[in-house]
Amino acid sequence: MAEIVGAYFTSHVPAIGGAIARGDQHNEYWKPFFDGFPSVRRWLAEVKPDVAVVFSNDHGLNFFLDAMPTFAVGAAKSYANEDEGWGLPVYKSFEGHPALSWHVIEELVGSEFDITTCQKMLVDHAVSIPFELAWPDAAEWPVKIVPIAINTVQFPVPSPKRCLALGRAVGRALRSWQGNERIVVIGTGGLSHQLEGERAGFMNPDYDKFCLDHLAADPDALTQHSVEEVAQLAGTQGIEILNWIAARGALGDVPLAEVTRNYHIPISNTAACTLVLEPA
Ligand code: DHB
Ligand code: FE
Repeated sequence: MAEIVGAYFTSHVPAIGGAIARGDQHNEYWKPFFDGFPSVRRWLAEVKPDVAVVFSNDHGLNFFLDAMPTFAVGAAKSYANEDEGWGLPVYKSFEGHPALSWHVIEELVGSEFDITTCQKMLVDHAVSIPFELAWPDAAEWPVKIVPIAINTVQFPVPSPKRCLALGRAVGRALRSWQGNERIVVIGTGGLSHQLEGERAGFMNPDYDKFCLDHLAADPDALTQHSVEEVAQLAGTQGIEILNWIAARGALGDVPLAEVTRNYHIPISNTAACTLVLEPA
């Protein structure tokens, strides 16, 4: 039987890729953020996942404002990255796991989630940066991926409640998969940040702490806010917390232990956080 070994959550700020490319991990600005990763890497080396189910949002590389699925599940053999215009290297491609993707898709549709199925899909910095952070020296990625994109970009975006329900349905699908893969769940983006408008630069450590303190033991607490309220509390891009909420849902309603947590403010315009949860 497949096993969900836990979840790794991290911010995906593109500037992290610039810091890696320049070798700035140890300078004054970046060190407090990168210091959060040795423990993540040790944990991954211990739990040895074969597959990653990755909840993230596409920022316009794959979907744009003209065609924006609320929830999209990749079912491709491979997923390439492309230049997004941030001045970053084009990152390694990812190997897919089409059979597991189709199982997740069938179970989600069976659970009445009206998802979009993508047999061709690019992945952007929201996938590549968390992988570069987790496996910095990998010649190729040690896991296959099932990418799940949540629209956090163009309103109307789904509610925290709906994203938690989606994640729980994904978790049920993973637990009913007959393969014997070891599955890590990944949630990327956030925490609080706003990139545009009058509140550009807005961050909210109080709301971030509320999310971090409830995510493991009481994720339903995060569903008390509408997504409009989350945009107020976390900033318009801080609604990327939806990816974390969905990833948390996939772990199921089991007691969880916090393996590591590193909150650091700011990276670029973002209150950055890295977190690992595993079944207790
Ligand atoms: C930044 C953060 C993001 O989540 C993103 O997708 C792009 C930029 C930032 O803080 O610069
Ligand atoms: Fe983002």
